[in-house]
Amino acid sequence: MPKRRATITAVGHYVPEKVLTNRDLEKMVDTTDEWIRTRTGIEERRILEQGATSDLGAKAVAALLKNRGMRADEVEIIIVATVTPDMFFPSTACLVQEKVQAKNAWGFDVSAACSGFLFALITGAQFIETGAYKRVVVVGADKMSSITDYTDRNNCILFGDAAGAVLLEPTDDPSAGILDHILRCDGSGEAALHMRGGGSLNPPTHETVDKRLHYLYQDGKAVFKVAVVGMADVSVEIVERNGLKGTDIDWLVPHQANLRIIDATAKRMGIDKSKVMININRYGNTTAATIPLCLSEWWQSGMLRKDQKIVLAAFGAGYTWGSVLVRWTAEHQA
Ligand code: COA
Repeated sequence: MPKRRATITAVGHYVPEKVLTNRDLEKMVDTTDEWIRTRTGIEERRILEQGATSDLGAKAVAALLKNRGMRADEVEIIIVATVTPDMFFPSTACLVQEKVQAKNAWGFDVSAACSGFLFALITGAQFIETGAYKRVVVVGADKMSSITDYTDRNNCILFGDAAGAVLLEPTDDPSAGILDHILRCDGSGEAALHMRGGGSLNPPTHETVDKRLHYLYQDGKAVFKVAVVGMADVSVEIVERNGLKGTDIDWLVPHQANLRIIDATAKRMGIDKSKVMININRYGNTTAATIPLCLSEWWQSGMLRKDQKIVLAAFGAGYTWGSVLVRWTAEHQA
């Protein structure tokens, strides 16, 4: 049996400076700060005014390399999870590779929306576990403002721009690093959450623009119902099948789509709210970036510490969803 495990040895993140508050949105669509706070938990989000997803991703990777004290040319693979690639091709991973000057790396993108970081993390871990690679960078980056319809009050209040990155390296300690994962997808979810314009189904035309098909569409109520069950199901399952209880988990790191979904997941797992990473109030839903952004902020503040057991959990378009059990190994450097 294996195994050399993959473990997260460094984190980094980047958020753009421009803040879009609920009050700002009150001036753009028929909404209120009170409605947004109570229905979602969001108070403000960040907007990238110039540049693209690869700029967010490259800055997160640069922060990660600095935190690890590692040169860019030591990176072997860059995997970028995103639904807002700079363009269809080349991949955003290639553009990040060029921007950080990771001269010896190859890479590719993963498309799994809000679960993208977890899908990319587990993909990256396989390269380490086979023994073929030793330094894999996994990035979650999205410029959601580029596909958000700021005339649609149902959705424009939800999203923001950010990036987070982690470095995967091998460990021989069988009780450390990425211990277990559950990943799922169900394409029947396409009807409730999609962006239909621009691909091979609906190549761009004046009509696709007029029909607003190049913006994210979400039936929030339908997605809420399945997300609240799906994210909690896999989070409970991964804890139970590893012989643990909610009280054994030091941090739940949930995708930040809606505070009510996060609260319901923590409750089902029997985890106290003080052990849940929550920054949705400051950033909204940054899609692939939410989980690495939490990891990076909590590590930076010293609250995420070596040997802590954490559960990462996500739900998103596809539908896609999943959970990952990790024993954290990155030491905090004050
Ligand atoms: N401001 C004020 N009112 C709004 C509004 C806004 N920004 N957006 C919607 N409303 C209105 C609706 O029009 C509706 O009015 P009606 O009852 O007169 O039709 C009412 O508020 C309730 O809307 P509803 O959609 O039922 O709200 P909700 O409680 O389901 O919350 C979401 C909406 C989007 C916040 C919520 O459904 C959600 O978070 N969904 C899941 C998101 C998710 O997890 N996505 C997965 C990953 S991306």
